[in-house]
Amino acid sequence: MKEPIALQEIPRNSVFREGDVFVLFGELFGRGYATGLLEEARNAGMQIIGITVGRRNDDNTLRPLNADELSEAESRLGGKIINIPLMAGFDLDAPAGHPTPTDLLAGMTLAGWESDRLDWDYIEKCRQIATMRFTQALSEVMAVLDSMIGDGRNVFFAHTMAGGIPKAKVFLALANRIYKGTATRHMSSQALLDSDLGKLILQNFDEVSANTFGHLIDFSSAIRQRVEASGAQVRYTAYGYHGTGILIDSEYRWQTYTNYTQGYAKMRLESFAEKAWKAGIKATVYNCPEIRTNSSDVFTGIELPLIPLLLALKKEGGGEWAEQQWQACEALLTDGYTLDDAIAKIRTLQASDVMIPFYDFMAWPMPNSQAQADLTIGTSHEITKMHRDGKALISDHLSALVVEATGQLIFAASSAPIGPVLWLNHDVVAKRLNTSHARATTPTTIRQDDRQNTSQLEVV
Ligand SMILES: NC(=O)c1ccc[n+]([C@@H]2O[C@H](COP(=O)([O-])OP(=O)(O)OC[C@H]3O[C@@H](n4cnc5c(N)ncnc54)[C@H](O)[C@@H]3O)[C@@H](O)[C@H]2O)c1
Repeated sequence: MKEPIALQEIPRNSVFREGDVFVLFGELFGRGYATGLLEEARNAGMQIIGITVGRRNDDNTLRPLNADELSEAESRLGGKIINIPLMAGFDLDAPAGHPTPTDLLAGMTLAGWESDRLDWDYIEKCRQIATMRFTQALSEVMAVLDSMIGDGRNVFFAHTMAGGIPKAKVFLALANRIYKGTATRHMSSQALLDSDLGKLILQNFDEVSANTFGHLIDFSSAIRQRVEASGAQVRYTAYGYHGTGILIDSEYRWQTYTNYTQGYAKMRLESFAEKAWKAGIKATVYNCPEIRTNSSDVFTGIELPLIPLLLALKKEGGGEWAEQQWQACEALLTDGYTLDDAIAKIRTLQASDVMIPFYDFMAWPMPNSQAQADLTIGTSHEITKMHRDGKALISDHLSALVVEATGQLIFAASSAPIGPVLWLNHDVVAKRLNTSHARATTPTTIRQDDRQNTSQLEVV
């Protein structure tokens, strides 16, 4: 991928309708990206089916959800969950009676981790055991799913799995330094990648965030062939991250959060979509903007590129509703601060000589540096301190808007996807939000004008 290919037009759903099937491949968390896509599937009247990663017993064995967990998960999802554990990654797998990779990491200390070596043949055995466990469970899941999908029903597979951080004390301490540490607490992300510990973590990220998409496409091939033979269509989507185009100095420019250690796995995820696309399978990775979720909260400063979405809302024809978003965000700041103050801080960061080398698409994902981490994390803390309440942030408000817009865009774009890897930049996100909210709040006369222009607009 030499340059980001952006979704530019607001697409329209022309495939998915009542009775079609939406399969969420990952669990649902309250504020995660998947909530937006699921909302669209529900609005279209689709049957919703989910999976579970399962839960760990005290002895680390993996089990299905118990009755209470299952009923809670199904009511959150609004659909049936196939209760066969699909936890990915090999951090807790090992030959019976032998230590797991996480056990091996437990012996590492802050003093010695950089020179500690792992037995890669043994790690490979654990990886193969985990892959076997995952793919066997996936075969069972697919058999159940097959029986739930009638001929003639279109199917939308939405992959959301990402993760793979092993629960090892030493890594949690290092992650705190890499993603949250400044000054003397700063740590080089490259030092992690150069160590055996780092190499293990990258492999596990590949397993969870990328290979699971390949397995999903492979193991659903019988369903895909049957559904397509019955005249219906199948789509696959996954959430990628590979930087985002945001408004910087009045133009949309690509930038990224640094250090995004999972970036290698995200590029591998893209390669699965590219491979599938070449085989005639409609699989698309949508590279989405930085937002705050359960999974991204570890990255201090990831929210900084999100705040200029407010500028994009204005630029992309924002009216009364966009103005209301500015007011709602400004109300979250403590007396004496305005949104312009927060945006000015981000502008200063973006224009800094320290940051400019990091906005190099071809060099992504770059390792962090002391100066870059100090500036990113420091700016994040300063903007957080401008808020009245550290638990009600502008980035929370804007994250929810991005989840809404990306759900609409991905759902609709998947009717006629235009490529295997697409970026959802702030321009199209802002256009999508302004269009839906103008419709929701504008008087009937304008809505009639809208209707005459439906060829350029979307059906939501
Ligand atoms: N938050 C962001 O800024 C951002 C930006 C771009 C893309 N994304 C992507 O969006 C997707 C959803 O993430 P989110 O940020 O909404 O967070 P989230 O926490 O809501 O979702 C994470 C998902 O990963 C699954 N998962 C975690 N560990 C797993 C494991 N070991 N095996 C199988 N599944 C596992 C969870 O079940 C869940 O479905 C991810 O692919 C993420 O990389 C996030």
